[in-house]
Amino acid sequence: MTAIAKLFRTTAFKISLAYLVVAAIGAGLVLARAGWNVEKLIDAQIAQTVDTDITGLAEQYSEGGIGRLVQAVQRRSEQPGGGLYLVTTHAGEPIVGNVANLPPGVLAQPGLVETDYLRASDLTTPHRALARIFALPGGFRLLVGHDIDEALRMRRIFAGALVTSLIWLVIIGTIGGLWVARHVLRRVDTINAKAKTIVAGDLSGRLPLAGTGDELDRLVQNLNSMLDRISVLVTGLNEVSDNIAHDLKTPLTRLRSRAEQALQFAETPEDYRLALEKVIDESDALIRVFDALLMIARAEAGAGPEGMVDFDAAGVARDVGELYEPLAEDRGINLALETEPGLILHGSRELIGQALANLVDNALKYGTPQSDAEKLAQPDVVVAAKRQGKLVEISVADHGPGIAAGDRDRVKERFVRLENSRSRPGSGLGLALAAAVARLHKGTLRFEDNSPGLKAVLALPAAAAIPAKLAQPARSQTGAAA
Ligand SMILES: Nc1ncnc2c1ncn2[C@@H]1O[C@H](COP(=O)(O)OP(=O)(O)O)[C@@H](O)[C@H]1O
Ligand SMILES: [Mg+2]
Repeated sequence: MTAIAKLFRTTAFKISLAYLVVAAIGAGLVLARAGWNVEKLIDAQIAQTVDTDITGLAEQYSEGGIGRLVQAVQRRSEQPGGGLYLVTTHAGEPIVGNVANLPPGVLAQPGLVETDYLRASDLTTPHRALARIFALPGGFRLLVGHDIDEALRMRRIFAGALVTSLIWLVIIGTIGGLWVARHVLRRVDTINAKAKTIVAGDLSGRLPLAGTGDELDRLVQNLNSMLDRISVLVTGLNEVSDNIAHDLKTPLTRLRSRAEQALQFAETPEDYRLALEKVIDESDALIRVFDALLMIARAEAGAGPEGMVDFDAAGVARDVGELYEPLAEDRGINLALETEPGLILHGSRELIGQALANLVDNALKYGTPQSDAEKLAQPDVVVAAKRQGKLVEISVADHGPGIAAGDRDRVKERFVRLENSRSRPGSGLGLALAAAVARLHKGTLRFEDNSPGLKAVLALPAAAAIPAKLAQPARSQTGAAA
């Protein structure tokens, strides 16, 4: 497509063209109307002059008959000006007047006519006249009229002005339209060129602003904020995949070396059996990591509204408590449950249950049993669910080492495990899931000091506080925070 063809196809040019057409119609109407008015005025003036002439001549005729009339016409014919007079005989022969020639038949019909004629003083150039014709007794004909060449010239001037102004309008309009289109197009072209480099991979690039604050600038601003958001998401995504690749490599390597060792050193079927069992254990751990990652991804993608139900938070707390009771007993930890009735949440019961399970799992894993006396004063681990304004807060408090204030955000990221926890089993995904579930439900996960120990609080909006359509998943928060 040539550059000029491109210009013609721009919206800016089409809009200019539309304005041009409207302006041309408007100008045409105004000029035509003015011309018409002027012509009517001139016509009226001519008609009036003719009528005055006729009145005068009629007086002469009624006073002195055809003789006086001829004399009067003779006088008037000799006066300068546009007045036209002619008296003919019954046979059409001119008796007196300043009209030399008329098209045949004009004198035959009395009344008002517009006709060509030749002037007695100038027999070469035909003129045009508006005339009234009378049939007089005795077969005489009287023509009284006026030259209208002046009016015709006026009409031609108006028509000429109309045409030239329309031509100028079209020329100026087209040039203006092209200029506007080119001006706008140049900006669109630079934006397009920059967009291409961004598409080609330069995600740090931004579209150029003209600084005029017009709609194009606003569009560019919005596109730029979109790009900002995308690059944050992409960076987050890159980090997450790096982490995942890195953190899965270790257990896979371990898995492989166990199999390799078995091949090298195992001798009896019992050796092989043990080795295979270890391989299965390692595989199970890997599968658990994948499950956790998938669940986080699911929570971050936002479970559809079909998975969202109303349910009692206290019920979930009870279920999770029961599930971990045996494990707590094994570790010599006493687990207490404190709930209030009527804590209705709207959301995914399964995901919230899993988030709470992860918090309880941590409390049992990192929390330490207290002395018997202390246990009496306060249970080692307390799982509580209570109403806090518009929120339902589900908390798990333990008496372990807690998490330093500076680490409380970091531990919510995938695969983050604090230094002193490395000896315990785990993959660093438990809190990441809990945080993602909180975000999905438009809630938060926060940590408080239980002095000593940690209190992890899952604060979620109570069902009544959520609008009916609920919890459109918090997509805008996903990804980057992981
Ligand atoms: N109750 C707790 N007390 C002290 N530290 C904790 C507690 N819960 C979590 N943490 C710290 O946060 C880290 C991340 O926890 P999590 O995401 O559940 O991973 P994992 O339990 O697999 O290590 C843990 O490795 C630990 O260092
Ligand atoms: Mg954990």
